Amino acid sequence: MNSTQPFTVAIDGPAAAGKGTIGRAVAERFGLAHLDTGLLYRAVGAEVLGGADPVEAARNLEARALENPTLRTAAVAQEASKVAVIPEVRAALLDFQRAFARRAGGAVLDGRDICTVICPQAEVKMFVTATPEVRAQRRYDELIARGQDTTYAAVLADVVERDRRDSERSAAPLKPAQGADVLDTSQLGIDAAVAAAIALVEEARV
Ligand code: CDP
Repeated sequence: MNSTQPFTVAIDGPAAAGKGTIGRAVAERFGLAHLDTGLLYRAVGAEVLGGADPVEAARNLEARALENPTLRTAAVAQEASKVAVIPEVRAALLDFQRAFARRAGGAVLDGRDICTVICPQAEVKMFVTATPEVRAQRRYDELIARGQDTTYAAVLADVVERDRRDSERSAAPLKPAQGADVLDTSQLGIDAAVAAAIALVEEARV
């Protein structure tokens, strides 16, 4: 790939599928910028939990809000998926994501609607998934490692509830895009999942 040309790796998938880990690893391997778009919705969700209006929060979002240490909690994740249903919230976040996707030098974005709405012309499109139980176990391990107090059952309930809300909404619902490669990581460790994603990017490079 030519380092001044846009080159977009678009990654979608349900909650806790490993999109972030794969996105970061792919970005590092190919020297691309990485945007975890879930953080934008989480930041809006966190502001709403603090009393803000969701559309105003999305319109006025600042980079600093992405560093809020509470963004990784389940409470914020739930609120993120509620604000993500609102078309005006999604619209307010669109231009930033599109510009990021086509920046010179290339980018990796992960989320729910990257292949379908943000960057359908992406050179690489993937849908990363795994069974809800496998995803919940991975997220549970991650939250425990971060020192959060939770249970496997609570994490599974969060994952199932958000998947339902994200898939059933009418604005940019979660679904595999036409032409996306589906990467089911139920039986794959993280190294194998990253290797499979890297192989898909290698295939697309000119
Ligand atoms: O890390 P995890 O997969 O659990 O969630 P996330 O990617 O941080 O996204 C949190 C929530 O933001 C999701 O449940 C979606 O409702 C919403 N989201 C979205 O609607 N569109 C995106 N491109 C990214 C996230």
